[in-house]
Amino acid sequence: MSDAVLVTGGFGLVGSQTVRRLAELGRPVVATDLQTDANRKAATTLPDGVRARWADLTDPGQVEQLLTEVAPAVVIHLAAVIPPPIYRNRALARKVNVDATATLVRAAEALPTPPRFVQASSNAVYGARNPHRHNAPVTVDTPPHPTDLYGGHKLEAEELVRASSLEWVVLRLGGVLSTDPKAMPFTTDALFFESALPTDGRLHSVDVRDVAWAFAAATTADVVGEILLIAGDDTHKLRQGEVGPALAGARGMAGALPPGRPGDPDRDDAWFITDWMDTARAQEALQFQHHSWPDMLAEMSGQAGLLRYPMRLLAPLARLYVARQSAYRNAPGRYADPWAAIRARLGEPGLDR
Ligand SMILES: NC(=O)c1ccc[n+]([C@@H]2O[C@H](COP(=O)([O-])OP(=O)(O)OC[C@H]3O[C@@H](n4cnc5c(N)ncnc54)[C@H](O)[C@@H]3O)[C@@H](O)[C@H]2O)c1
Repeated sequence: MSDAVLVTGGFGLVGSQTVRRLAELGRPVVATDLQTDANRKAATTLPDGVRARWADLTDPGQVEQLLTEVAPAVVIHLAAVIPPPIYRNRALARKVNVDATATLVRAAEALPTPPRFVQASSNAVYGARNPHRHNAPVTVDTPPHPTDLYGGHKLEAEELVRASSLEWVVLRLGGVLSTDPKAMPFTTDALFFESALPTDGRLHSVDVRDVAWAFAAATTADVVGEILLIAGDDTHKLRQGEVGPALAGARGMAGALPPGRPGDPDRDDAWFITDWMDTARAQEALQFQHHSWPDMLAEMSGQAGLLRYPMRLLAPLARLYVARQSAYRNAPGRYADPWAAIRARLGEPGLDR
């Protein structure tokens, strides 16, 4: 066995920061991901102590070879197909999110010294959350009740990991945000998706650097056999409709986002799969909360600097463009119906049969 930490999805949003945090701690890291042009380019600027290793985790042969060659002390399993692309690629998403997790777990179990396995999960396992129905934040004891494809996949993956003979830890993440605009590009799908979600739905955000801190800490902390809820401090307990405008405002684009629609209090199904989370145990064990929501906004404003002033002039134009991507443009009704909107534009979002 080496003392390397193998990070799957190592070039993604959470992966690239997790790799960086582990390198800061002086841990040897193997970052694995799909071999794409963007990933190959990113691999040229990896921190010291980090190696890149390309593998498609849907290919069992590549997974076995990867685990045998690296023989890691810990696997941090982040690779996944997440919303919104998951709804356009149901079959592929299942192969990555569920089948590849099973392959990885089996290959890890087969090693002479099996690694600790830290699994990335999501608050999506709790399903659609009507804030008029539920008052308290979700806890580790809240029964999982996935209502969409993504939450279903994440719960299946958790169950595979928890049923294994490995020393496992599951981290269920809230809404991961980055102050780096390049890390969260505004694609037309992303704009559409954002506009479809009920503005008064609860979202518990977290800075990606704090998520990375949590994953790195979970490789050594006394948390084996625990499910931990990873989200920011209380300032990150937000409503969906305030996030986009705050991010746009921090970059000088206040007013660029047209208002969305609230959720229907009488429908439990027509809400998004996020809620506020009880992070007390995770924070006690991993001490990962370092960036508050106001700090993130101030940092973004600072980065935008003087550019914020010319950006203000662009805001009305941006608003026209964004309005064109909007899920409920010209649609009758006053409430959001996110799953119908997603079904119409991206694909069937329901659970696998
Ligand atoms: N971003 C969030 O808000 C959020 C919230 C809750 C949970 N999570 C979980 O955290 C993890 C990381 O999410 P992220 O936001 O960094 O996503 P991401 O899409 O940025 O990264 C996922 C990575 O997985 C890789 N990948 C996809 N298919 C692969 C395959 N066949 N073989 C190898 N690699 C493959 C992708 O190339 C990508 O780099 C995921 O498991 C996700 O479910 C994320």
